[in-house]
Amino acid sequence: MTDATPRRIRLDALAFGGDYNPDQWPEAVWHEDVRLMREAGVNLVSLPVFSWPQLETAPGVYEWAWLDRVIDVLWAGGIRIDLATATATPPAWLVRAHPEMLPWDADGRRLEFGSRQAYCPSSPVWREHVARMARAMAERYGQHPAVVLWHVSNEYGDHVARCWCPESAAHFRRWLQDRYGDLDGLNEAWGVNVWGQRYTAWEQVEPPRRATGPVNPTQLLDFERFGSDALLELFRIEVDVLREVTPELPVTTNFMSLFRELDYWRFAEHEDLVTDDAYPDPADPRAHVPAALNYGLMRSLKGGQPWLLLEQAASAVSWRDVNVPKAPGRMRIDSLQAVAHGSDGAMFFQWRQARYGQEKFHSAMLGHRGESSRTFRETAALGRELKRLAAVRGARVRSRVALVVDWDSWWATSATESLPSQRLGWLQQARDWHAALHALGHAVDTVRATGPFDRYDLVVVPNLYVTDDAQAAALEAYVAAGGTLAVGPFSGVVDRTEKVHPGGAPGPLRDLLGVEVDEPWPVPDGSAEQIELGGGRYDAPVWTEWIEARDDASVVAAFTTGVLDGRPAITRREHGSGRAWYLGAVTAPDGLVALMRRVLADAGLPARERTDPDLETVTRADEHTDYTFVLNHGARAVTVDVPDGATDLLGDGPVRAQLVVPPLGVAVLATPRGAEPPFITLSDTTE
Ligand code: GAL
Repeated sequence: MTDATPRRIRLDALAFGGDYNPDQWPEAVWHEDVRLMREAGVNLVSLPVFSWPQLETAPGVYEWAWLDRVIDVLWAGGIRIDLATATATPPAWLVRAHPEMLPWDADGRRLEFGSRQAYCPSSPVWREHVARMARAMAERYGQHPAVVLWHVSNEYGDHVARCWCPESAAHFRRWLQDRYGDLDGLNEAWGVNVWGQRYTAWEQVEPPRRATGPVNPTQLLDFERFGSDALLELFRIEVDVLREVTPELPVTTNFMSLFRELDYWRFAEHEDLVTDDAYPDPADPRAHVPAALNYGLMRSLKGGQPWLLLEQAASAVSWRDVNVPKAPGRMRIDSLQAVAHGSDGAMFFQWRQARYGQEKFHSAMLGHRGESSRTFRETAALGRELKRLAAVRGARVRSRVALVVDWDSWWATSATESLPSQRLGWLQQARDWHAALHALGHAVDTVRATGPFDRYDLVVVPNLYVTDDAQAAALEAYVAAGGTLAVGPFSGVVDRTEKVHPGGAPGPLRDLLGVEVDEPWPVPDGSAEQIELGGGRYDAPVWTEWIEARDDASVVAAFTTGVLDGRPAITRREHGSGRAWYLGAVTAPDGLVALMRRVLADAGLPARERTDPDLETVTRADEHTDYTFVLNHGARAVTVDVPDGATDLLGDGPVRAQLVVPPLGVAVLATPRGAEPPFITLSDTTE
């Protein structure tokens, strides 16, 4: 069952707070915590994420008293709770009683207890115990007025996204039986006549382990699907319990941005609120660009509804090789970027910096120096600013461009060695296409390959290697109705069982795009071909294709080097009232910007004349007002032209026609809601 009308979180402000781990501290500290939380404006905390062993100290022996007191102290302080079901990690007593619940890696090694997530997602013992613990938590605390949200488990798949143990193998077989019915169905789907892999009994079927050579690609793809589904089942076990005991409380589980291992489209169907954990690397001056794509996914997972940034670092993390802190102002703009993209708040991991354990060097809102720490001052200042932005709560991002995210294509192009090239990275393509649209001034939503597309003037498909008829029909209908579509290389290649479509790529998209791919023509490492587009020449590293354009498609750009010299590289075909573009190459960022500029114009959308990747503008809107966030992620001031009569919610009031945004500066411009969202451009006076 999916939820058409999500339950809302009972909070009348933008959420602000963080993970709280009181069981790492003496009780006296809790009172100090609440005092400082109030001072900082904290209104929501997440707990007790990893506390199962402290809550059930032996089978059936519950120690609720400490958590009862923590919750009461928070409630008395006016702080609401995103209550975790505490099932993120199993207690040692459970693991030792049932060592078979520990996960195995692909080489058959059992992963030991001593970190977290020490469970096989398919383990019946684990499943039974998480259902029991979720019920115990719900019955104990579900009616407490402080509890406003369920936080199920924690970052599914963060450490153990796939398991190769015997229990998982049995579960994989059951999953395959559901999908294919019988062994004939499986043998046909997996194309077993290649390299002699026919199965004559289900017991012969195993998860793809390390083998003598390249493993059957469909077996690999199915294992990815299965792995995502196994964790989804685990999530749903808890969701069902929570819905039964506390039908009125919203449910979430924290996502990890654009995360390969889990099909978040399917996860989001079973939660009320999408939440994300975002850790852009402060060492990367362009980290805000992929972050914008991640946030575009988060708001799109439930059709544009606001989501919540549930975790971010106040400064450094402790899990990279080199953990660079966030310079003053960086945490602020990162937080406001998420709010710009539809997050109804900004939360952190974690409230108080740990003194011991794996995360003692991970920053927190309250650093080791306590109230004196820089992170406390900066997060408290952010808390005050979020109050000034109260009006944007619930407002939706106005985006006219969507990018297709398809986990099957991502998995299939990354699970196997048996491809024309290992260099065509699905995620990199998605990020590059997004980066071009971002540079040209657009906030990009994401969408499934089956739509819905109706609210977009432009839909881009960086890669759709796996394409079925339903997807092709949806894309065709969108174009026929007047939409503009741009499809990237190596799309429409295989069906759901990874069989090449009859006649080759782009398979079911062939008529719509008006092209046939004769052969992909990968480019050797370190070299590049070239494409000429509108008088400019652009590198095509990594990938090119021998394309035959049909008569009804026009060639917009051709290759100018190599074997493909003179052959089509980019095509465009009119279809119904719309148009469909095809790019038969991977192009360098400047080439993608040049292409997207043309495609945007074709869709009737504006594009920034001059680009600056550090400038980002996003508009959230309610019924009456557009709230346009202008963010300068860079180290130099930018000057932008802004609509007349704008008021900066973070500034001193009305803004004149030009706005100078300092390094790491943010303005939030309120204007009456227009027919189109305001389109902010760099002013001519910017150097
Ligand atoms: C997340 C996790 C948190 C914390 C954080 C540190 O992946 O959910 O519990 O470990 O990372 O960055």
